[in-house]
Amino acid sequence: MIVAPEYNHSVPGLLKHVLDSCLNEYIHEAVGIVGVSAGRFAGVRVIQSLLPVMREIGLVNIFWDINIGNVGKVFANDGRLLDDAFIRRSAKFIRELIWMSKVLRHGREQVTIDEEAAEVVPCPDCGAPMTHHADKVAPSEAAEMKVAMHACPACGQMQSR
Ligand SMILES: Cc1cc2nc3c(=O)[nH]c(=O)nc-3n(C[C@H](O)[C@H](O)[C@H](O)COP(=O)(O)O)c2cc1C
Repeated sequence: MIVAPEYNHSVPGLLKHVLDSCLNEYIHEAVGIVGVSAGRFAGVRVIQSLLPVMREIGLVNIFWDINIGNVGKVFANDGRLLDDAFIRRSAKFIRELIWMSKVLRHGREQVTIDEEAAEVVPCPDCGAPMTHHADKVAPSEAAEMKVAMHACPACGQMQSR
């Protein structure tokens, strides 16, 4: 779940920097976005700005968002929620995010993209054969690198090679 304040109709620079780092952490993971703003557009513009970034880094976005506008009236200074309607509004978002997380975890660990692969990658933790669930071209300082993502069906360990 990404909770993003809207800065000048877009993404805060620090959030973008975090997303641009640790690229191997995101591939085939579920994500839902909470847009937050001071105004009445309720973070819709930060959510729209984030969607193409989610796709490029390999996160899989659910189809519900949470929009929090006039944030100063929704939370008290000590962080307390002032408007209980947000609990009800968040339920569908949370259920969908949990469902998507379970489906993607199953896919990473059980469904290979490469049925004919000759190479078996053993899990570094338990030794079980890992599932090859994605290939991604990752930019690095030296050159672009092709990264193969694996997940272990036995213990859930993830590995990029
Ligand atoms: C640099 C900056 C730009 C902002 N731009 C917008 C904006 O375009 N639209 C909006 O509704 N709120 C805008 N806000 C208000 C933030 O969305 C609001 O303060 C935020 O949701 C709360 O997070 P914060 O603690 O990082 O300020 C901006 C705030 C900052 C600091």
